[in-house]
Amino acid sequence: MLDGVLLRRMEMEDLQCVLKNERKAYQFPWTEGIFKSCLCNGDECWIILDKKILGHAVLSFAAQEAHLLNLCIDPEHQNKGLGKQALDHVVSIAKKKGAISIFLEVRVSNASAVYLYESAGFNEIGRRSGYYPGAVSREDALVFGKELI
Ligand SMILES: CC(C)(COP(=O)(O)OP(=O)(O)OC[C@H]1O[C@@H](n2cnc3c(N)ncnc32)[C@H](O)[C@@H]1OP(=O)(O)O)[C@@H](O)C(=O)NCCC(=O)NCCS
Repeated sequence: MLDGVLLRRMEMEDLQCVLKNERKAYQFPWTEGIFKSCLCNGDECWIILDKKILGHAVLSFAAQEAHLLNLCIDPEHQNKGLGKQALDHVVSIAKKKGAISIFLEVRVSNASAVYLYESAGFNEIGRRSGYYPGAVSREDALVFGKELI
């Protein structure tokens, strides 16, 4: 754990800060409505913070499978180990809740995220063609998975 940094569950009151980071970090950010429905659905929504919110992660569960839906660090605080810290945390939550595997999608062009997932033991298990919107054309997603038992 980096000094002074902690993780706690996201609350509705956090949403404006979360959205600020989300919009800074992604070209195609989630809307407020998507975050609200994740919070209302009982998805595992977490924030990473010191004095302010530095990032967030959202994890859903179905049939002993966890799915990492979002992992985002404020661009001003990237490359300090926070993404790894948040990823390790949600993987441990998935294990605690009895998931036997965890999956995620990532843009093929997202080199730092691909590096992060591979270094955390995720394996590329597939590719979804045209999964993501793009400025000019749609972009493929790589599907990553990790066994948790
Ligand atoms: C992907 C993301 C969560 C990583 O968070 P982070 O806090 O920067 O991650 P960390 O600092 O823990 O680790 C990043 C690692 O990637 C490496 N890295 C950075 N840029 C890289 C690049 N272009 N190519 C390969 N590796 C790269 C860093 O060196 C670091 O590795 P190290 O710890 O061995 O030095 C963050 O960049 C982010 O929020 N991006 C925008 C949202 C996003 O794309 N989320 C993922 C959706 S699937």
